[in-house]
Amino acid sequence: MDMRKVLLQDLTPEMKLARTVFNPDGRVLVAAGTAVTPKVVARLAEKGLPAVYVSTPTSPLVEDIISEKTIAMLLKPFYEMYQSIKAGRGLEWRGVKEPLNALVDEALSHRRNLVGWTDIRIHDAYLFGHSINVTVLSVLMGIMYGYNEIKLRELAIGALFHDLGMLLIPQAILEKRSALNAAEERQMREHANLGFQLLRGRDDISAVSANIAYQHHERLDKSGYPRNLSDEGILEMSKIVAVADVYDAMTSERVYRRALSPRQAVNYLRSNAGRLFDPLAVAVLVKCVAEYPVGTRVRLSNGQIAVVSRVNPEDGRRPCVTVGGGHEINLLDRTELAIVEEVEEIRYNGASGE
Ligand SMILES: [Fe+2]
Repeated sequence: MDMRKVLLQDLTPEMKLARTVFNPDGRVLVAAGTAVTPKVVARLAEKGLPAVYVSTPTSPLVEDIISEKTIAMLLKPFYEMYQSIKAGRGLEWRGVKEPLNALVDEALSHRRNLVGWTDIRIHDAYLFGHSINVTVLSVLMGIMYGYNEIKLRELAIGALFHDLGMLLIPQAILEKRSALNAAEERQMREHANLGFQLLRGRDDISAVSANIAYQHHERLDKSGYPRNLSDEGILEMSKIVAVADVYDAMTSERVYRRALSPRQAVNYLRSNAGRLFDPLAVAVLVKCVAEYPVGTRVRLSNGQIAVVSRVNPEDGRRPCVTVGGGHEINLLDRTELAIVEEVEEIRYNGASGE
């Protein structure tokens, strides 16, 4: 499928939706293939979606790492689980188990061509879109760590539930668009502990999974929260989820700010590897996400504008690109050429949102 991500405001009726957009309860909101008429745009806007994937005749191939079917299967039970927590009934997640296992199986079946995957994003705006993205990315990273299926499932549960405590944070704080004051910030930071309390001491959730929720905001230099843990005190899986969490948060469109490009997010993680983030986790993440995903417009060192058409797993900075007239250049072979910069149709404003 040919597709690229476009902000709602830039959609035109000639474009067609490349991926089905689901309601939070798993029902179809707008099916893939639907033309993006003003009416459809209004429906998407109503749901708070900042951007969607559309197919265009010119955009190059992007493959899905996890099928739409698997994600759709996960949505409804995940939504119901959210409702049970919000209603004060605690964690009821039986329905989530099977689709989560399917997600791990699917990621494992792609094992061979994981490296340099183009785009792991599934949804942007829904409350659990972030959790699902972090889960997919964490599982891909776990596969590269050489985890077996048992460890991958532990990691997947921890990643999917890492922000569960957010459900118990007052809506007013979550939706506040201006900076939080000190008291609100303290309250918001409680989500790590609240999530841990929901997950701990259950025989259907391992201590490691529960600790991922507890530790995902801890940083190597002890600047994290809630316990200012040091490098040695943080579990390897928590370090993986921390990196996946920051990457997804930075590359997501938010109502109050534009997304950063994958390259900008990778640069941020790289420049803080060893200080905030585990260097191995950062290196592995960089291998899982392409710095220049398929569809990125770039300027080459010879001044030509090109579009990334294929990611080279060997080197995320030297993909195949298509220049005017559809001529493809493999930058791995053309070492005299390099990518100088991204030429984004969507402009990024540089705000980070950790
Ligand atoms: Fe969090």
